[in-house]
Amino acid sequence: MDRRTFSKELLATVTSFALMDTLFTFNAFSRSIQPIVGHWAISLNDYCSDLKKQAIMPVEWQWQIENLYQKIELAELLKFIDFDNLKKGFQYPDLGVSTKPVQFPKLAGLPEKTVFIKKIFGMQKGRAIIPHGHSNMASAHLALQGEMHLRHYEKIRAEKGYLIIKPTIDKTVSTGECSSISDDKDNIHWFVANTESAFTFDVIVLGLNNAQYDIHNLDMYEGQDLHDGTMRVPVLDVETALKKYGKESHH
Ligand SMILES: [Fe+2]
Repeated sequence: MDRRTFSKELLATVTSFALMDTLFTFNAFSRSIQPIVGHWAISLNDYCSDLKKQAIMPVEWQWQIENLYQKIELAELLKFIDFDNLKKGFQYPDLGVSTKPVQFPKLAGLPEKTVFIKKIFGMQKGRAIIPHGHSNMASAHLALQGEMHLRHYEKIRAEKGYLIIKPTIDKTVSTGECSSISDDKDNIHWFVANTESAFTFDVIVLGLNNAQYDIHNLDMYEGQDLHDGTMRVPVLDVETALKKYGKESHH
């Protein structure tokens, strides 16, 4: 490379630095432009990608996602997923919940097809995300609107037609609070809406352990106390489970 070419290239670099500087200065004065680097949606995708590659343990993924959700400003997230629009004309079922897929806007550094599934779940008062556990699947749930009664159980082991489980969480979740489940921690969950309507934003990672995912609906009211802090609960088919648990009958 001769000196002349070198100078020309150097000048081009200097010019682009100058241009970048101008752009950054412009950004600094423009409050409406969001910082793209370190956007929560990119972190979310990175964590899910790490989980899928088994670069992190499911429990670590749960911790990271919940930690991330605590830092996100809910109003910004609602805008980002266009919640107002998703909620418009939402069809609430009489039993259980309905879902709608979520689409993220284009963002530098975020793949167009995220490694995870993203949906909103919506239900009316007294309706439930019926009690169930997952296999080879992890999910995180952020309450977007309303209040829900949330129960979680640890999956201790499976027996033919039953799961042996142990209660871990029993609380009320309100807007902005989150929860998560994996094969390793708090595997069974059960939400019941306390308010006229309730919505969650769900992030779901399937096909963990290179295996097909599975869902086990549980007949909680038929649980047998094993007197060691655990109970043996029958597994139900989805139709029976929805009829029994999709809508609270006692109020
Ligand atoms: Fe679930």
